[in-house]
Amino acid sequence: MKEISVPLVLCVFVMTVARGQVRYSVPEEMTKGSLVGNIVQDLGLDVKRLKSGRARIFTEDSREYIGLNVDKGTLLVKERIDREELCAQVSPCSLHFQIILENPMELHRIDVEILDINDHAPVFMKKEIAFQISESALSGARYSIDSANDPDVGLNSIQTYKLTPSDHFTVKIPAHLDDTKYVEMILQKPLDRETGEEHKMILTAFDGGNPQKTGTIKINVIVLDANDNAPVFSHSIYKASIPENFPKGSSVLRVSATDKDVGSNGDVTYSFSQSSERLSILFQIDSSSGDIIVNGQLDFEKSKKYELYVEATDKGGLSDTSKVHIEITDINDNAPIISVISFSNPVAESSAPSTVIAMLNVKDLDSGKNGIVRCYIAQNLPFKIKSSSPNFYSLVTDELLDREKVSEYNITITAIDEGSPSFSTNKTLTLKISDVNDNAPVFQRQSYTAYLMENNSPGVSVLSVKAHDKDSDVGDNARLSYSILPTTIHGSPISSYVYINPDNGNIFTMRSLDYEQMNTFKIEVQVRDAGAPPQTSNITVHVFVVDQNDNPPVILYPTYSEDAGLQLTVPHGAPVGHRVNKLVAVDPDSGHNAWLFYSIAPGDDSSLFHIEPHTGELRTTQKLMDDEQGGKTHPAYNFIVVVRDNGQPALSTSVSVTVTIEEKSPDKSTDFRITPHKGTGVTDVTLYLIISLGCVTLVSLLTMTVLLVRCIRHKGGSTCCYSRTGFRPQEPHTRTYRPCYSTLSSRSDFVFVKTPILRSLDEKKLQNNSIYLKCRYFVTLSLWSF
Ligand SMILES: *[C@@H]1O[C@H](CO)[C@@H](O)[C@H](O)[C@H]1NC(C)=O
Ligand SMILES: *[C@@H]1O[C@H](CO)[C@@H](O)[C@H](O)[C@H]1NC(C)=O
Ligand SMILES: *[C@@H]1O[C@H](CO)[C@@H](O)[C@H](O)[C@H]1NC(C)=O
Repeated sequence: MKEISVPLVLCVFVMTVARGQVRYSVPEEMTKGSLVGNIVQDLGLDVKRLKSGRARIFTEDSREYIGLNVDKGTLLVKERIDREELCAQVSPCSLHFQIILENPMELHRIDVEILDINDHAPVFMKKEIAFQISESALSGARYSIDSANDPDVGLNSIQTYKLTPSDHFTVKIPAHLDDTKYVEMILQKPLDRETGEEHKMILTAFDGGNPQKTGTIKINVIVLDANDNAPVFSHSIYKASIPENFPKGSSVLRVSATDKDVGSNGDVTYSFSQSSERLSILFQIDSSSGDIIVNGQLDFEKSKKYELYVEATDKGGLSDTSKVHIEITDINDNAPIISVISFSNPVAESSAPSTVIAMLNVKDLDSGKNGIVRCYIAQNLPFKIKSSSPNFYSLVTDELLDREKVSEYNITITAIDEGSPSFSTNKTLTLKISDVNDNAPVFQRQSYTAYLMENNSPGVSVLSVKAHDKDSDVGDNARLSYSILPTTIHGSPISSYVYINPDNGNIFTMRSLDYEQMNTFKIEVQVRDAGAPPQTSNITVHVFVVDQNDNPPVILYPTYSEDAGLQLTVPHGAPVGHRVNKLVAVDPDSGHNAWLFYSIAPGDDSSLFHIEPHTGELRTTQKLMDDEQGGKTHPAYNFIVVVRDNGQPALSTSVSVTVTIEEKSPDKSTDFRITPHKGTGVTDVTLYLIISLGCVTLVSLLTMTVLLVRCIRHKGGSTCCYSRTGFRPQEPHTRTYRPCYSTLSSRSDFVFVKTPILRSLDEKKLQNNSIYLKCRYFVTLSLWSF
């Protein structure tokens, strides 16, 4: 204060001189007793005068702020002077008083200007002030604040305002501070509730004093929300991956959007955007939670992914859009599908292996492993699957087929995918094998043998052959026809003997047969199918003509004439049992039918002779004498010899025999003289006998050798003559073999020897019946001669 007052005092002096009137300036708030001015000097008065004049201060106001020190003639501060109290805002502020002197009365006017000192700080009425400003407020908006108050004047009063921080607002200082009661706060930059809900600022008022004083007020700006924020999704793309069997009603994912606004401005609802509405049968969105829910049946095979557009909208209508990618993953829910592209049905059994039967396409709607398909035939069939290119398969034959074994195949093709669990599909193709004429007809029997009675009537059935063809009977391959291969029998074509029904194989005779001419013959039958080319089979039918007793025995020896009968002689006085002769008869029939019995028909002389039934040896039963016959000379005995065969009915031949008694004569050759006048007959017989004997010996020897060799080979041992191939025991020929058990009996000799010859003749020279018969005679004769 003192430092200030000095210059002021100097100033006062200048003023005083100039006017002759005393003016002082003192700052307010001087301490009591502070010097205001020296009136002695300034008024040119003497101190004594002051005393004498009883100088005193006269104030019109009651209060005396300034006192007079009479002793020194100085003016002093008597009371605290508060300029603001004294003058308030009036400036300059002066105290006016008079110094009054008496004796003589003198009046001196004193002006004391009270100088302002900055003793007041600016003061706001309120400590704090709050504003609620919408964030939508435009910049430039003004908000008034009661200005601060500073009782000081001049520079010491409020000079400026400052707002801190001043991000959004500035203060505008009024042009005339005194004039206005308000300070304007101006919005400079738009507010954003979302970045700052509250702005706390301090407005400071500065005065111009030195030291400067300030006053502050807190300004609290609360930013009110405006719907200035759209909802914002947390992601621009949401991604999810779900299996195609995702259960209906489950949530795939949750989208979420935030809205920085508050209240209803920040309430977000979710929906699909227009473009995704068609998918709403599959997906739904929960409008409040943002859950995307599966609503239908997903199918990877129909769509592998879905793109949904979701919208988040606040109540104010602002919205945001986001994408949702939903990827569907495959699960093995599809079985493979087998489609037949081509199918050659039927296929010929002659098809070579690797013939393509069917082309298949196999697909599986699943993908990845679930869609990889393997194809095979589970059964063990002569077919295989070949893969020509991915998903394409051909069914080919693996082996040669045979319709006769399997005429139809059910081929089950299985396609299985590699998923787990895997799915499989079966496709069954029924393949028919078509016939090819690959089988020859086959006769039901390996050989046929027929027995036919001789003397048959033409047209009698011989037998029926039957063949079977394995080929299909649907077409021509098994349509059979029978025929007889052209051969000849005894020089005539076989067709003149037998006839075959081409359709059923029945064989008939064309003529009557004669066992004695031909006892066996063969028919070559051919069966032929109608295939192309045709297949044939041949078979031989052996026909055996069965003998009938149709030939009477024939007496061969001794020769006799039909007219005279058989003439025989006995020597005179031949003893009882004398062998007169031996009759030899043959029967062209065979077997039993050729089994002959000799007998003497009852008659006058029949008792005198006996004939051996089997051998035909004729012997006497009594002594025959010339003289005993009652004077008869050259007596002759007549009887009839009957030769009967064993046939049914039996046939017989009879010859009348005349036996004469030789006269006593020395001729010894009578025994063998049959017809004495025919010498040639005797030589013939002798010749025959010799030849026969040779023949028989040779044949017997041969036969024995052959039999021996056979028996040794067969080691059968027991019997000699059976196991001849081609002749079975049940055949009638064997009857002729039976007697060979007892080779020593005379009768069986006959049969035994006869048969091999017959057989050999049969086989070699069947047609030459006469030779055969002759030989039989020889043999018979030779045997008989034994
Ligand atoms: C093939 O299948 C059909 C129909 O199931 C059946 O009638 C036929 O007998 C079968 N064939 C074979 C050879 O299994
Ligand atoms: C296909 O056939 C096989 C063998 O016969 C059988 O095991 C399988 O179950 C069948 N699959 C289907 C789908 O019928
Ligand atoms: C059947 O016989 C005929 C004539 O001899 C012959 O041509 C044919 O080849 C024979 N067929 C068979 C299958 O033996």
